[in-house]
Amino acid sequence: MYEWLNALPKAELHLHLEGSLEPELLFALAERNKIALPWTDVEALRSAYAFNNLQEFLDLYYQGANVLRTEQDFYDLTWAYLLRCKAQNVIHTEPFFDPQTHTDRGIPFEVVVNGIQQALTDGQEKLGISYGLILSFLRHLSEEQAFVTLDQARPFRDAFIAVGLDSSEMGHPPSKFQRVFDKARSEGYLTVAHAGEEGPPEYIWQALDLLKIERIDHGVRAIEDERLMQRIIDEQIPLTVCPLSNTKLCVFDDMRQHNILEMLERGVKVTVNSDDPAYFGGYVGENFAALYDSLGMTESQARKLAQNSLDARLA
Ligand code: ADE
Ligand code: ZN
Repeated sequence: MYEWLNALPKAELHLHLEGSLEPELLFALAERNKIALPWTDVEALRSAYAFNNLQEFLDLYYQGANVLRTEQDFYDLTWAYLLRCKAQNVIHTEPFFDPQTHTDRGIPFEVVVNGIQQALTDGQEKLGISYGLILSFLRHLSEEQAFVTLDQARPFRDAFIAVGLDSSEMGHPPSKFQRVFDKARSEGYLTVAHAGEEGPPEYIWQALDLLKIERIDHGVRAIEDERLMQRIIDEQIPLTVCPLSNTKLCVFDDMRQHNILEMLERGVKVTVNSDDPAYFGGYVGENFAALYDSLGMTESQARKLAQNSLDARLA
């Protein structure tokens, strides 16, 4: 990693805590919880990290999350991520977690939230990293199941700054969750949503108009729709872009094809994020380094991207 990139103060606004589960911790938690794994060792697991699309990744990501069982597990997961933040000068983070990935396996909602929340408060106190936690609904599940999750979150309302929407995008448009998001906003949540990662610009329009989102997670396909681009620029709606994720999931064939700097130069408020760093080959720092190495990012562009991340905070 380049020292000058590392030294830039940054915020991370698109990070799935479950996606920060490194293979070493995954194996350690499996042993602690006496769970048999289908991989012989860490290297065998790492070699399974080759994906042709979002769904292939998600299948492995949900399988990996199965080792997370206790409050201590969720604490350890979150703490390990915060140590990475500290090492890369990420001074603020707004991570997602997917409660349904865990409650559907019989893990109580409070076990998940308490473990994450304790690590985040310790991170603020001991590492000086501020935060806002985002509860994300799984879009491949039903509207009704999202409403159940929103109910489960109510006793912990103060633990969250926003609700989000993730998982399999194609075939699950934002419109499916309009009523859930209406209800969440009536309870004071801000809203964000994954849109335009694999899905069409129409999904970004819906996320803006129906879900009233503050930020677009990914949003790289906005560039296909000029009217949408104008709106995003005029209203300075932030995009939480994840370059390594986009190349690992074949949204772009190659980092040299990535459109983040083109968007930046056109006046879009783009930010750099890691999405699922344990699976995609790096944290925020490695994402910045990839833009420098493969896309010719200049120092002033790097500074602007880092400043955008600080400006686009919700907490
Ligand atoms: N969940 C974890 N990572 C994701 C991504 N990149 N897109 C949609 N859902 C996700
Ligand atoms: Zn994501």
